[in-house]
Amino acid sequence: MRTIVSMPGDGIGKTVLPEAIRVMEAAGFEANYVHGDIGWEFWQKEGNALPQRTIDLLEEHKIGLFGAITSKPKAEAAKELAPELQDKGYVYFSPIVGLRQHFNLDICTRPCKAFKGNPLNFIIQDGKGGFIEPPVDAVVFRQNTEGMYGGIEWTNPPKVVRDALETHPKMKKFAHVKSEDMAISTRIVSRQATERIIRAAFEYAKKHGYSNVTVCEKPNVLRETSGMFLTVGKEVAKEYPDIQLWDTNIDAQMMWLTKNPETYGVIVSENMFGDITSDGFAGLVGGLGFACSANVGDEVAVFEPTHGSAPKYEELKPSIVNPIAMILSACMMLDHIGEEDKAKKIRDAIAAVIEEGKVRTYDMMKLRGGPKAIEQGAATTQQMTDAIISKLA
Ligand code: NAI
Ligand code: MG
Repeated sequence: MRTIVSMPGDGIGKTVLPEAIRVMEAAGFEANYVHGDIGWEFWQKEGNALPQRTIDLLEEHKIGLFGAITSKPKAEAAKELAPELQDKGYVYFSPIVGLRQHFNLDICTRPCKAFKGNPLNFIIQDGKGGFIEPPVDAVVFRQNTEGMYGGIEWTNPPKVVRDALETHPKMKKFAHVKSEDMAISTRIVSRQATERIIRAAFEYAKKHGYSNVTVCEKPNVLRETSGMFLTVGKEVAKEYPDIQLWDTNIDAQMMWLTKNPETYGVIVSENMFGDITSDGFAGLVGGLGFACSANVGDEVAVFEPTHGSAPKYEELKPSIVNPIAMILSACMMLDHIGEEDKAKKIRDAIAAVIEEGKVRTYDMMKLRGGPKAIEQGAATTQQMTDAIISKLA
């Protein structure tokens, strides 16, 4: 039997992850789940939100299911450390970013497909007093380890860095700025990682029958890094004659998002632009309660909803948060390990519950979150899960 590392993390991660396991079990997927410690509690107790024992578990079992974690700003994080760990030089790092970097989980996939009947689906005025609901079905491939979020940045850059930058003629305009008044974030991309993410996007398009792949960057301004994406995109596209290569600029893409989102299929971007496009598309299909993702490397893969730990709902009993983002993330895990039939069964059950429209969590009813939502007719997290299980064929 397969072993899966279950990392619920913090807040509502602890609520939604067990629900996903409940659905998978009901769909006939049998596995052995081992618990991986991750999150705020371990930062406070051990000065490390991602303990080595959790890394070891993933190293051994390769597949992780992750809920969400809580991160706090530097000063606050330091204050919440156990007294005996204070002032010992511990620095907080986000454990999910840590996992992506440690295992080089460079391929991030974020599908954004509208479920029929979801009241949160994006609509457009049709100009005749009615509206149309574009059938959004986009999948964003985000380079997960380099680019703008690569972490290579400085405030008050060391002299060698400054000297190196000053070899560039455009640095002249900063000549009068003191280093202590200067902040630098780099956007470094490698051909290898760019090729991997673009190839992953084309492979996905081929496997799932998408007719186009869009490189969403800004090569007219970011001539070097976006330029690399487009150049590699054109090279890789030659190997896929049945799939068209499109390229869009990130800013224009955000505008077209609300004009003709149904036109786009597979989209591929650098780290930060992929973060932006995937949130943009997710907003068209229901937002955080529906946004799922996969982080895949050569050996290890971790599946997680896009949402965070939503601390304000952590203690709410019964819980009101939508488990669908987590359950869809579990479906991505099932696809990854060759259990596509069970993933399909679960997605079909989710689609049936949404289309029927009887069971809806507070976000689907556009209610304010809180204990009152249930009196107003919102389903609890568990009721939504039960409804999905009841539709499993
Ligand atoms: P969040 O995603 O936790 O929550 C924002 C709001 O979205 C919530 O207050 C709630 O109204 C709604 N929401 C989130 N998940 C939902 C669900 N499943 N169903 C219905 N509504 C849902 O983001 P926020 O408030 O910015 O951050 C809270 C904490 O989570 C922070 O400590 C942050 O650092 C962390 N975070 C962690 C992430 C991760 O683990 N990958 C990602 C984003 C934030
Ligand atoms: Mg984001």
